[in-house]
Amino acid sequence: MSFKHRAIIDSIPSYKQGKPAPAASGLVSYKISSNENPYGPLPSVVEAIEDKALGQINRYPDMHGTALVERLAARYGVGAENLVLGCGSTEVITQLVNLLAGPGDTVVYPWRSFEAYPIIVAAAGAQSVQVPNRPDGGHDVEAMLAAIDERTRLVIVNNPNNPTSASVSQAEVRRIMEALPSDLLVLFDEAYFQFNTDSTRSQAMELFRDYPNVVVAHTFSKAYGLAGLRIGYAIAPADVADGMRKVALPFGVTAAAQTAAMASLDAQEELDLRVQALIEERDRMVESLGRQGWRFPKPFANFFWLPLGEHTAQAAQAFQAAGLATRVFNGEGIRISVGEREANDRVIQVCAQLKKQGF
Ligand SMILES: Cc1ncc(COP(=O)(O)O)c(C=O)c1O
Repeated sequence: MSFKHRAIIDSIPSYKQGKPAPAASGLVSYKISSNENPYGPLPSVVEAIEDKALGQINRYPDMHGTALVERLAARYGVGAENLVLGCGSTEVITQLVNLLAGPGDTVVYPWRSFEAYPIIVAAAGAQSVQVPNRPDGGHDVEAMLAAIDERTRLVIVNNPNNPTSASVSQAEVRRIMEALPSDLLVLFDEAYFQFNTDSTRSQAMELFRDYPNVVVAHTFSKAYGLAGLRIGYAIAPADVADGMRKVALPFGVTAAAQTAAMASLDAQEELDLRVQALIEERDRMVESLGRQGWRFPKPFANFFWLPLGEHTAQAAQAFQAAGLATRVFNGEGIRISVGEREANDRVIQVCAQLKKQGF
């Protein structure tokens, strides 16, 4: 960069958005690269935005999202003082890191995991401590605990983990919470928790009641299908939530997003059916790929992870040629989101071809 700037910025990797659907002749192409919900918006949600938000766009939104905050607080049995909204859960995670960590501090998290973590931590001037996942894609809890020292300001648990789709068990999270001092915060990023069908899974809200140092991040982007409106929230101890609000992007959450979130909570049952259908699609794909001979971590989110190692680029080409945009981590593997039924069928076909080619 030719201008005066913070040296740390040079070390920040640029966030790579999931690729758009590639053109493929004679085929409808699909984007299964961003763990989005393939269902379009619910008519009731669109209607609510039209009725309650569009006519107000000359005004700033309610900065604290009072109505939504009260609704979420009641839902989780916490106080409004425990709720913080953000422009996607990416923003609430950013608020938390900005509140806690700066130069000389560390944030410990599993790796691979959500690609925004290293960016958020580096932008705060703090240092990431990335703890490699176990071969099955799960968090290596003992290694994470060993990585914590007096410089650590935050530990992140990503459950289910993006991109491996592994679930973190109750025993694992209790182990973490019991080992840590009560003034070291743990963030449970549960962007995909609605898809987690693991019988041993942990749910951070259970921990929130038992420990004073738990912060939970949820989003409306995935199960609720509002990725384009950017709205997420954190549930945190009141003093932490207070600090997060101080560093929040002022007016970051639009009235349209707040209205859509409220309307989505009203349509919970309809949305639950969609989540259930996506889980069934995921399990159908897993079963088909299993029969083809593929071995990969059992997925518990709306995506799965093919650990292809050095064969990643070649496999990525096959998906691309079939009109499927997947998330490719060169030299490591490919993350595939559960999409439209036709997209899922095509994934199964491409995987069958790859197997025939000796993958
Ligand atoms: C693990 C994880 N956390 C958080 C997010 C952030 O989602 P959003 O900012 O849309 O709420 C994502 C998005 O992909 C994610 O994968």
